[in-house]
Amino acid sequence: MDKKTILVTGGCGFIGSNFIRYMLKKYPYNIINLDKLTYAGNLENLKDIEKDERYRFIKADIGNKNEIDKVFEENEIYGVINFAAESHVDRSIMDADAFIKTNINGTFNILDIVKRKGIEVFVQISTDEVYGSLGPEGKFKEDTPLSPNSPYSASKASADLLVLAYQHTFGIPAVITRCSNNYGPYQFPEKLIPLMITNALADMELPVYGDGLNIRDWIHVEDHCEAIDLVFHKGKPGNVYNIGGENERTNIEIVRLILDILGKPHSLIKFVKDRPGHDRRYAIDCTKIKKELGFVIKKDFKKGMEDTVKWYIENRTWWERIKSGAYLEYYEKMYKNR
Ligand code: NAD
Ligand code: TYD
Repeated sequence: MDKKTILVTGGCGFIGSNFIRYMLKKYPYNIINLDKLTYAGNLENLKDIEKDERYRFIKADIGNKNEIDKVFEENEIYGVINFAAESHVDRSIMDADAFIKTNINGTFNILDIVKRKGIEVFVQISTDEVYGSLGPEGKFKEDTPLSPNSPYSASKASADLLVLAYQHTFGIPAVITRCSNNYGPYQFPEKLIPLMITNALADMELPVYGDGLNIRDWIHVEDHCEAIDLVFHKGKPGNVYNIGGENERTNIEIVRLILDILGKPHSLIKFVKDRPGHDRRYAIDCTKIKKELGFVIKKDFKKGMEDTVKWYIENRTWWERIKSGAYLEYYEKMYKNR
C-alpha cells in the first residue's frame, strides 16, 4: 500500500459507515475499518464500497488488546478515528457493562498502542452528552465542565479524560470532537428519528418519552462527517471541538414533522413513561470549529428530514431485517407495558 492508511473503528455503524463512504470519495487514503459487529454494526451499511481496493474490513474488538495490537503490528497506520462505541442511552440504563468495556477500556487500548507505535493523528469521536443537561438558556462550549448523567455519557466522558491525559503526558497527537444528535441514512432504528419513521411506516405507535419537550440540537450526518474531516486534517492536538447543527428542536416537534412528511395521523403518537435521568436540553456552541477550522453547516433541516424519510422508504428491507431480528427482543423489553 503506497498511500496513507487510516484506521476507522466502528465503521459498520451509523456515523462510521457514512464517514468511510465520504472519505473514500474525497481522498486517496486506504481505509481499514475495524468493527466488532455488535447488534449495531452492519456490513450491509458499506455494501456499495466493499469491493473498493482501498478499503479493508477487519472484525475485531477494541476491548481486546491483542486484537488491536495485531492490527497495528501488521499495518502502517497514519491516523486513527475512533467511532467504536456502545451508543444508546436506553441500553446503558438497562445494562452498562458493554459501555464500560468498549467505551472506556476499548479507548484505553487504542491510546496505549498509539502511544507505543506513534501515529500522526488520533481523533476521538465523543458526544455533547458529556456536558450533561442544560436549562432553558445557554449552550455547551468546549470549556463547559463535564457533568454526564447517564452510564453512556459517563463512559464517553471517561474516555475523553483518558484521551486528554494521554495527549498531555505522552504527547500523542489526539483531538476530541463532541457532536450533537445526528440523523440521516443508516441510523439504527432504536434512535428517535429512525424509530419514529419506521414505526410510522408500519402504522405502529410512536412512543414519546415524558412530555416530549426535551430538546436536542440535530445535525445531518453529512455535516458531521465534514466537521470530522476538518478536525482530522487541521485540528490542534489536545483540543476539543464542539460540532452542532444550530438546530434545537423538541422531540414532539420532530415526531410531528415525521408524521406530516409521511402523511400519517398524529394519533399514532403515544406519550409513555419518561426515561430515567432524562437530560432536558442539549445545545452546542460550535463557534470554535467554525472560526478556527472553517466549518459550515450546509444541510437544511427540513430538506434533510425529507431526504432521510425517503431513504427509509426506499431501503425498507434494510430496516425490516433489523426490526425482525435480535432487535425485537430489546424492543419488547423497552416498550412493553411502558
Ligand atoms: P452505532 O451504535 O450506530 O455504531 C457503533 C459501531 O461500533 C457499530 O458498528 C459497532 O459494531 C461498533 N462497535 C461497538 N463496540 C465495538 C467494539 N468493542 N469494538 C469494535 N467495534 C465496536 O453508533 P453511531 O451512532 O454511529 O456513533 C458513532 C460514534 O459517534 C460513537 O462513539 C458515539 O458515541 C458518537 N456520537 C454519536 C452521535 C449520534 O447522534 N449517533 C452523536 C455524537 C456522538
Ligand atoms: P435518542 O435518539 O436515544 O438520543 P439521545 O438520548 O442520545 O439524545 O433520543 C433522542 C431524544 O428522543 C431523547 O430526548 C429521548 C427521546 N426518545 C423518545 O421520546 N422516544 C423514544 O422511543 C426514543 C428512542 C427517544
